[in-house]
Amino acid sequence: MKATDRPANGYCSRSYRRGGGGGGGGGGRGSVSGNVMLIASILVLSVHYGHAQDFGYDGAKGPSHWGEQYNSCTGKHQSPININSLDVKKVNLPPLVFQGFDVAPRETNLTNNGHTVVVTMESEVTPTVTGGPLKGVYEYSQLHFHWGDNDTFGSEDMIDNHRFPMELHIVFFKQEYKNARTALNHPDGLTVLAFFYEIAPIDNPMYTEFIELLGNVTGSHLSARFDTPPSLKDLLAEDLLHYYTYDGSLTTPPCSEVVTWIDFKEPILLSHAQVQAFRALEDEEGHPLTHNFRPVQPIGDRVVLFNTDEMIKQVELDEEHPPEPEGVDTNKLEPAKSASDEAKSPKDPSNRKHPRNAASTLPGAARWTLFALALALIAQVVRC
Ligand SMILES: *[C@@H]1O[C@H](CO)[C@@H](O)[C@H](O)[C@H]1NC(C)=O
Ligand SMILES: *[C@@H]1O[C@H](CO)[C@@H](O)[C@H](O)[C@H]1NC(C)=O
Ligand SMILES: *[C@@H]1O[C@H](CO)[C@@H](O)[C@H](O)[C@H]1NC(C)=O
Ligand SMILES: [Zn+2]
Repeated sequence: MKATDRPANGYCSRSYRRGGGGGGGGGGRGSVSGNVMLIASILVLSVHYGHAQDFGYDGAKGPSHWGEQYNSCTGKHQSPININSLDVKKVNLPPLVFQGFDVAPRETNLTNNGHTVVVTMESEVTPTVTGGPLKGVYEYSQLHFHWGDNDTFGSEDMIDNHRFPMELHIVFFKQEYKNARTALNHPDGLTVLAFFYEIAPIDNPMYTEFIELLGNVTGSHLSARFDTPPSLKDLLAEDLLHYYTYDGSLTTPPCSEVVTWIDFKEPILLSHAQVQAFRALEDEEGHPLTHNFRPVQPIGDRVVLFNTDEMIKQVELDEEHPPEPEGVDTNKLEPAKSASDEAKSPKDPSNRKHPRNAASTLPGAARWTLFALALALIAQVVRC
């Protein structure tokens, strides 16, 4: 009877299971509407589940045909993209706040959905993320992977035209939208924490059981349960401060442009054998699922931000041209973007431009104001 009895579906960012959060204090009324929603979810799931099978990564079902059935796939703010690291806007965003990332879930499943392998979990504490470019709290939905035929490609986003062998997508929906499905109707509905993988000479011990279990879900729609569920943190890289962020879409049909992407700079290390284990999975037709990444899409009018703590240092280095240090406008004046930027970003429902609240902006603004004053003083002195 549960939507969750179905294998996780193919949508990059869809999961109909909820790990408990949300409805907590709802009481009787909450549970009635909860049931209604569950039933609605099952219906919608059944409908969409059929559709989800219609896409693949080759030939007539391949990415270049997705737009024939899913309008959004031809949109102007699609993912993935190539990120040119020389073309990003360096910023000091408020800290990302991760909750429940270090808690081992009660139950974690691995499911081959025919397009990728999906990890769902049920935990005392549903992991959430907030802060950074995000406005509001985002709740864990599922995580999954994209990879390629060999170690020279497989990631979806590229950095400076470089593809990594594999990429992890941890999908979160905005808590106020209740679940991943309804979140798809809102331009700020989802965020995906993305991590790249790189090949290391030795196995990553945190992935040992994970890789073993892949052998249990070779066939499409098979599931396996972890004996010792890893926490989210166990699976990630350490540096969660340096990341690229931009507004984009699901990288699978329906390609909804509702995703705030957060791509961490530091890759996760796996051995070649560990990555190779993913390539043994099979798709719906029993063919090896050797690649499941979408080609990069035009970046269009979008600006990719790069979060760093090195702003001050950089400005000091640039002191010969002090009037407009790179970071100043982004940190202080983001809400009132320069006229030219505004012109480049037409009014558009998905044009969220990484809102951040005033409180968290203030310290930075104050800092920059002081800094600008100091520069002005120095300039004055030099001129005299
Ligand atoms: C894991 O799979 C089992 C069996 O299909 C299912 O009953 C359970 O709800 C799943 N749990 C999670 C967290 O996905
Ligand atoms: C990886 O695969 C690509 C495409 O099939 C191929 O051109 C390339 O030679 C392969 N590289 C290696 C190192 O196997
Ligand atoms: C995975 O497969 C192995 C070997 O076939 C088996 O012993 C084990 O019980 C399976 N584990 C799960 C969680 O299905
Ligand atoms: Zn994905």
